[in-house]
Amino acid sequence: MTLSEKDKQYVWHPFTQAQTSPEPIPIVKGEGVWLFDEEGKKYIDANSSWWTIIHGHAHPYMVEQISNQLSILDHSIFAGATHPKAAEVGERITNVLPENFAKVFFSDNGSTAVEVAIKMVYQYWHNKGIKKKRFLAIEGSYHGDTFGAMSVGQRGYFNRPFEHLFFDVDFIPFPTKENINEVLVKAKELLSSGDFAGFIFEPLVQGAAGMRIYEADWLNELVSIAKEHEVMTIADEVMTGFYRSGKMFAIDHIQEEVDFVCMSKGLTGGVMAMGLTATTQKVFDAFLSDEIGTALLHGHSFTANPIACSAVCASLDLFEKENTQKGIEKIVSSHANFLEKIKGDKRFKSARQQGTILSLEIEMGDESSYFSPIRTEAYNYFLANEILLRPLGNVIFFNPPYVINEEELEHVYSHILKFLDEYFRA
Ligand SMILES: Cc1ncc(COP(=O)(O)O)c(C=O)c1O
Repeated sequence: MTLSEKDKQYVWHPFTQAQTSPEPIPIVKGEGVWLFDEEGKKYIDANSSWWTIIHGHAHPYMVEQISNQLSILDHSIFAGATHPKAAEVGERITNVLPENFAKVFFSDNGSTAVEVAIKMVYQYWHNKGIKKKRFLAIEGSYHGDTFGAMSVGQRGYFNRPFEHLFFDVDFIPFPTKENINEVLVKAKELLSSGDFAGFIFEPLVQGAAGMRIYEADWLNELVSIAKEHEVMTIADEVMTGFYRSGKMFAIDHIQEEVDFVCMSKGLTGGVMAMGLTATTQKVFDAFLSDEIGTALLHGHSFTANPIACSAVCASLDLFEKENTQKGIEKIVSSHANFLEKIKGDKRFKSARQQGTILSLEIEMGDESSYFSPIRTEAYNYFLANEILLRPLGNVIFFNPPYVINEEELEHVYSHILKFLDEYFRA
């Protein structure tokens, strides 16, 4: 049986209609920015494998540190026990976050990092004896696929079967130059009701909605309104964290302090599954009492897995290296040069950049949609040209690992333009 045959027989894939989708690419190896398939074909991992891999595949330092940890301590229970790498992650992550952060809570992925933040918000108010039931979120947001995370995300096609089970959330429109005043007025109006426990947002870039970018000043204003009305703020940095936005965290672009930061994806350099919810001493203290019932009674079998923690520490070590910072700067300036080059090109409805993320919305003459037909054509074209890039509908985006070199960057930029030449000629 080939790998593809065995997969077809036994495996159920995420976000996939098995009846109509093509066979998955049989990937057998990763090195640097490259992924290799069974037949020896290689692909630039242009979206960093679902926006996770940040230092490239099989980075020798990551491999060394993770292997070391595996032979020292593979796993241990984390209720009533701790280990050096977990404490190190707590210390180092709170040190790279804004000053108001004091504690981290471990889980397994981005959805659980969000789920934990939502539960902390609700229980914070519960412990204080204050009734607040609603959440505020932004239209188009994606926070994950568990029930709480789905509740605060965009409702519709992806979660319709579950919609009747979601809790009460109000959505403000995605902020733009045209509507920002309206959005601020709506946020004030809603939050002044006093019913809102929390406000959750993807800071500066909405990922799954199509890498939609909005301005830091607007977010700053929204956070300020939330604070004015005593609403807890959750920055979902699952996608934007770890220099994707150009800074360590997207909230480093705003002045207001937030109450929670959710991390995953690039947290472990993208090589191990981990979620992390960071919060303040004030929140932590609200769970203290002589009663077990005021504690956060939540945990996972693999909470603070030592191997995943060692990956976090290794990744943070790499961020302290000049080479990594240079790699990030190179991507930021190359994206900017590319944007300059395509200025005025009418095939782009919008072309924007936030740090290492380049987002190109192709003009389709109608509404942008995740199911836009250009998606499959673009995906197949890129695959045939050694690039693994999964557009979000008619949005082609490029967020590579930070080890990508100039030639590889150029390879992707030039094929984006070649694809458009072919697509619009046809
Ligand atoms: C902003 C954001 N939050 C949460 C998630 C969910 O993370 P995970 O897929 O690890 O559950 C994602 C995943 O794409 C995301 O982009």
